[in-house]
Amino acid sequence: MSRAIQIQQFGGPEVLQLVDLPVGEPGPGEIRVRHHAVGLNFIDVYQRTGLYPNALPLSLGMEGAGMVEAVGPEVTHLQPGDRVAYASAPPGSYCELRVMPAKCVVQLPDAIDFETGAAMMLKGLTVQYLLRRTQPQGGLQAGDFILFHAAAGGVGLIACQWAKAMGLQLIGTAGSDAKCELAKAHGAAHVINYQTEDFVARVKEITGGAGVKAVYDSIGKDTFERSLDCLAPFGLLANFGNASGPVAAFNLGLLGAKGSLYVTRPTLFTHIATRERTQAMADDLFGMVTSGAVSIPIDQRYRLEDVAQAHRDLEGRRTTGCTVLTL
Ligand SMILES: NC(=O)c1ccc[n+]([C@@H]2O[C@H](COP(=O)([O-])OP(=O)(O)OC[C@H]3O[C@@H](n4cnc5c(N)ncnc54)[C@H](OP(=O)(O)O)[C@@H]3O)[C@@H](O)[C@H]2O)c1
Repeated sequence: MSRAIQIQQFGGPEVLQLVDLPVGEPGPGEIRVRHHAVGLNFIDVYQRTGLYPNALPLSLGMEGAGMVEAVGPEVTHLQPGDRVAYASAPPGSYCELRVMPAKCVVQLPDAIDFETGAAMMLKGLTVQYLLRRTQPQGGLQAGDFILFHAAAGGVGLIACQWAKAMGLQLIGTAGSDAKCELAKAHGAAHVINYQTEDFVARVKEITGGAGVKAVYDSIGKDTFERSLDCLAPFGLLANFGNASGPVAAFNLGLLGAKGSLYVTRPTLFTHIATRERTQAMADDLFGMVTSGAVSIPIDQRYRLEDVAQAHRDLEGRRTTGCTVLTL
């Protein structure tokens, strides 16, 4: 048996329940992993509310780190006793012990502790595919401006550091002056408090009127159209989240009128669809972390049974950096 967090219905943080679930033996392509720490992500909120639908009852959580206890048939890259970490579907990482597909589980380098592993996989692999693979036509070169919203969040603080390591000038937005300072301390070249400042005007000012080559927008509804206004001609808007709600249907003609723009709506799960791709992305991420180019800021810790408070704080914009659940 394992203590786990489950929901019986979609709703607010109050639907998160601590339950005991049976844990069996791994089948083909599966492992049993004992978690040492679990990562919290905004996607957990979308799954809790039903914005991203799943069958009920639903165990939540997409990220964790721990030790492999047992390995099923056909799993060749892991063995019992391995230290591992993952970002992986299906949800269910909010627990002590689980059986899960092995495909997206990778060995954790000795230099990276379990909490860091649990905090970094989903958010770090997201930054990897955004900055390395989700680029405008012609790519991104050192010195280029990009705009990154929610720059003081979990994904955001990793992006600030990674962009700096690539020589990019990341303009970060955040919802308070203190969060702006944090983003700057992590490598943002410029910061904008989008609660008090007009971020389109500030981006134009910072870029001498030219606009940025790419916008990475995880806010969605509240920022989408103004994000388009920050782009230089032929620029790319990557909408990768909906913290304020999903982007509504829009007139494609807008993209022409605003300068032959490109829009994409990527998700990590396409990028980590194969084991080989997941390992290659993880190797890049581990290299960035073990070299010291990127540190993983764990700014909040909650016990597993206090996960409802963790959700309230994440949705209430009271967290910065990464959050882990301890067991
Ligand atoms: N597509 C993908 O592959 C993928 C993968 C990972 C994450 N994501 C997305 O990336 C975003 C960041 O994820 P995260 O887990 O690191 O979360 P996070 O950035 O730590 O937290 C979300 C932040 O969004 C900002 N925000 C703006 N408007 C908001 C609103 N109405 N309600 C709540 N927050 C609001 C807040 O920062 P301020 O107060 O500074 O505005 C808040 O701290 C999320 O949207 C997530 O869904 C997408």
